[in-house]
Amino acid sequence: MNKENLFTNPLSEGSRASSKPIDPCCLVIFGVTGDLTARKLMPALYNLAKEGQLPLHFTCVGFARRDKNDKSFREEMKQAVTKYSRTKPIDEKLWENFASRLFYHQGNFDDASGYQRLKENLDQMDQKYNTSGNRIYYLATQPSSFTAIVEQLSNAKLIYPYAENNSPWSRVIIEKPFGHNLESAISLQSKITKHLNEKQIYRIDHYLGKETVQNLLVFRFSNLIFEAIWNQKYIDHVQITVSEDIGIGTRGRFWEETGLLRDMIQNHLMQLLTLIAMEPPVSLDADSIRNEKVKVLDALRPISPDEIDHKVIRGQYNEGFVNGGQVKGYRAEENVDPSSNRETFIALEMAIDNCRWAGTPFYLRSGKRLPKKTTEIAIVFHHVPNILFLKNQKKYEQNVLSIRIQPNEGIAMNMNCKVPGIASPIQPVKMDFKYGNYFGLTPPEAYERLICDSILGDSTLFTRGDETLASWKYIDPILQHWQQDSTLPPAMYKAGTWGPIEAEKLLNHSARNWRMI
Ligand code: BG6
Repeated sequence: MNKENLFTNPLSEGSRASSKPIDPCCLVIFGVTGDLTARKLMPALYNLAKEGQLPLHFTCVGFARRDKNDKSFREEMKQAVTKYSRTKPIDEKLWENFASRLFYHQGNFDDASGYQRLKENLDQMDQKYNTSGNRIYYLATQPSSFTAIVEQLSNAKLIYPYAENNSPWSRVIIEKPFGHNLESAISLQSKITKHLNEKQIYRIDHYLGKETVQNLLVFRFSNLIFEAIWNQKYIDHVQITVSEDIGIGTRGRFWEETGLLRDMIQNHLMQLLTLIAMEPPVSLDADSIRNEKVKVLDALRPISPDEIDHKVIRGQYNEGFVNGGQVKGYRAEENVDPSSNRETFIALEMAIDNCRWAGTPFYLRSGKRLPKKTTEIAIVFHHVPNILFLKNQKKYEQNVLSIRIQPNEGIAMNMNCKVPGIASPIQPVKMDFKYGNYFGLTPPEAYERLICDSILGDSTLFTRGDETLASWKYIDPILQHWQQDSTLPPAMYKAGTWGPIEAEKLLNHSARNWRMI
């Protein structure tokens, strides 16, 4: 066993003995010929190997329908890693060593014989590579295959009954989306939990694996000064922006079925909201943290049907210019219905009905084909009382704490300051901490952290079943409302702008504005 490979996740010190070695294991990736494996999973595994973060006894098996052999599979994976790895160039020697433990297994997701063969192969590999029977199954397939794969794994006895600290162990990582609405999420949950204990299920929301997202709790709860003002008494409102300059690319078919509310808000943005809004957990173990996140989701005030059109703005991009180049509108994208009403932008106002947040709205917005790619959380404080410094009846800028999740990861504080000199006007200035400048490190990719934690059995950065269902519960009435009148068009916005004018109005009616990012 590789005793050198020790991890320190500041969010899970409580749950994990810091000296815990990594168990040997085999990772089986279902849907290995897809984009996710090439762009994210294989580069993440390679970089983990490079940093000595994989178990010494480790194998990876790709399971997919297409006909291939180990050699061609390894060659394809090498090309993917060469293209997408965060560290470049690829280290040939390391790659050869890593690739010697990569295997391909051809099979259909719903055909039992492929799973029987898989079992035999894995048993043999355990002998040869000392992987001790420990298994992680990564479902990187279409969501429609999730249930079949879990059932087949269970029938083939590839999933073991769960027991605390059992050995060998088996775990299943499930990619998003977990369900298409509340009903399908409940159904998926009930089908897979016939075969799996909740503790064996690792639902991915890759935003939780981002370094700066992990820092949110450390920032909030390891700095005394913020917790005291982290409530409705001091905070006027919170803005969470996840903007992207890319369009929907080649994902037209997927996007027509999904849309931005399901793709981004139900998971990534609501996860960010829970981390900002949650109460301090009693400890840093996975369940204590997730219990607090669920409480936030449970306290969200449901948006009533007559409020939805005012409080949830859906937009769709028209043609326009992004980064200096002309781009087409959503309806002209490949595999998109030319009269589609599917949303590519959402701005919404949310209220949390608990003592900490009563009266402090949370504004979330996200969209494709916006001016730039950026993720930022802004905590906007109340105005100071209108007593001092008000000669011109001018309101000075509110203090804003902005947390840049990506890019230029950092934390900035805007405050008012006297300009030196006799006239002494007051001007906002900014204190700005940048991770890159301070630590000088390239943070690991989200998938590196998440794969690593799943091997360690640490589910802190994965969403629990009740969390997922609670966020669907909030989103579902909005989907239903839109479905009732699917002819209602979204508000259009020009590609390269910050969304439709209605998104501005959402804040303007309470004399607030979206921040210029
Ligand atoms: C994915 C969405 O979950 O997140 C994509 O399906 C989106 O539509 C992506 O582009 C954004 O992730 P990141 O890490 O690039 O901000």
